[in-house]
Amino acid sequence: MKTKTFFLITMAIGVFSLMAFVAPPQDLKKGEPWDIPAEYKEMENPHKGDASLDRLGRSAYMKHCRSCHGNAGLGDGPRAKNLETFPGDFASAEFQAYTDGEIYFMSIIGRDEMPNYESNIPDMEERWAIVNYIRTMAK
Ligand code: HEC
Repeated sequence: MKTKTFFLITMAIGVFSLMAFVAPPQDLKKGEPWDIPAEYKEMENPHKGDASLDRLGRSAYMKHCRSCHGNAGLGDGPRAKNLETFPGDFASAEFQAYTDGEIYFMSIIGRDEMPNYESNIPDMEERWAIVNYIRTMAK
């Protein structure tokens, strides 16, 4: 009897740990609305429409952001499955309705699981190049 109970418990643990590997990741929770300071909301993008920054924007996005946000900004990068919060859908109309300054704030200042990039991306041109690149992801 004891051996049987032990066997059953071992089996149960085995099955559950296997499920943790094969089960699809749980739906990530949606982030709360962002509280963005007014000075960022109204911040002008000094590089708006500057096509000379397209390549820089793309390569910086691929280097710093793609791992969580995914190639097309759908929030499906390879690291997203280890997150608790959904990184957002940059292609959605809801997201694209943010001002450039708001996208800048969320991208560079961040919060919680969204990293702060002030020291990793010190170059202002590169920061705005990323904002411009994210704009090209609109559906
Ligand atoms: C480690 C994973 C990770 C990386 C790398 C990352 N992000 Fe995020 N990002 C997140 C998560 C998680 C959220 C959602 C945070 C929240 O809502 O609290 C987020 C949210 C955002 C949002 C707001 C989306 C929305 O709809 O609310 C923007 C914009 C953003 N990230 C831009 C960037 C940019 C630009 C980079 C690269 C410079 C980047 N992120 C790198 C994880 C990441």
